Amino acid sequence: MKTVKRHRAERIALFNHKGGVGKTTLTVNIAAALASMGKRVLLVDADPQCNLTSYLIAEDVLDTWLDESDSSEGVTLWTALRPIVQATGDLHQIEPVELGIRRVKLLPGDIRLSDFEEELTQMWSDCFQRKLRGLRGTSALSQLINFVCADHSIDYVFYDCGPNVGPLNRVILLDCNFFIVPAACDLFSIRALKTLGQTLATWVSDWRMIDRLAPDGIYLLPGNPRFLGYIPQHFRIYRGQVASGYSKYMSQIEKHIASDVVRVLRKIDPNLASSSLSQNKLGQIKDFGTLANESQIQGVPLMLADAGTPDQREQARLAFETIARKIIARTE
Ligand SMILES: Nc1ncnc2c1ncn2[C@@H]1O[C@H](COP(=O)(O)OP(=O)(O)OP(=O)(O)O)[C@@H](O)[C@H]1O
Ligand SMILES: [Mg+2]
Repeated sequence: MKTVKRHRAERIALFNHKGGVGKTTLTVNIAAALASMGKRVLLVDADPQCNLTSYLIAEDVLDTWLDESDSSEGVTLWTALRPIVQATGDLHQIEPVELGIRRVKLLPGDIRLSDFEEELTQMWSDCFQRKLRGLRGTSALSQLINFVCADHSIDYVFYDCGPNVGPLNRVILLDCNFFIVPAACDLFSIRALKTLGQTLATWVSDWRMIDRLAPDGIYLLPGNPRFLGYIPQHFRIYRGQVASGYSKYMSQIEKHIASDVVRVLRKIDPNLASSSLSQNKLGQIKDFGTLANESQIQGVPLMLADAGTPDQREQARLAFETIARKIIARTE
């Protein structure tokens, strides 16, 4: 497979190494909101847990895909990346899967993405030594996205990331034009913001060194993930207001986003984050209780689930559309 130039689609990761903060749920629902506004969206399940794929695809179908992903007829990300990991050839192009959500497609995840992730550790070191295997391997997923975006005229790519700061998330973030931080209203989630900001800053500065060392004429990750904003999650509402106890977490999240993410990134490069606090909040998603779980079981966005009350579904639609509109405004 030849190298192609980077496609114009905006690549965005919902990123927080703290688990269970709503990354996968947000990914599906923001994608559906963008698609309802006419945008073509590609979802990339880059988490070896495959939660995004499980959300959208029936269990027996996913089981078959995982059983067959070693073959060249396979459909998962592992099928595409296997020749790179096993050093048997070039990236194998796969087609994205159609979903029940119009204008949204999926590159299915695979538990064997963890094999790719293991290789990425060595590939990263190879990059510092200007070795082609490292430079090609670290950008393999990015190249696959280029092909799929070009073939399907994609406007937005959303990577669903696993909850860690491992080598797979590193190449994903370095491939993204933007990242969004979902933060739950609890103490551990707020503490995690410090590691998140420092980790990203280290990844970007390491990549800038690799980029300087790399030979000319090779497709490289852009290494410029800009902070698009944060989304507080999992808070409760009482009588139309954020319930007491949760509002203190909301202001702590805002404060720590400013000090632990924005300030740290701006030290590396002021273009990586806006200093405007009001710009940084993309929206907020309250605790939707069983509606969230039911929507996963039914494989549909919250607003289309046969669960909860009509009022809850309407609130969900409005909340995700608000975020989608801000994403469009800030990326176009
Ligand atoms: N707004 C919400 N209201 C209620 N429950 C929610 C909401 N968002 C997500 N959940 C529930 O919280 C759990 C974790 O959500 P999700 O899987 O989206 O998080 P995640 O950050 O992707 O997790 P991981 O770190 O494991 O990838 C799920 O059971 C989901 O149904
Ligand atoms: Mg997830």
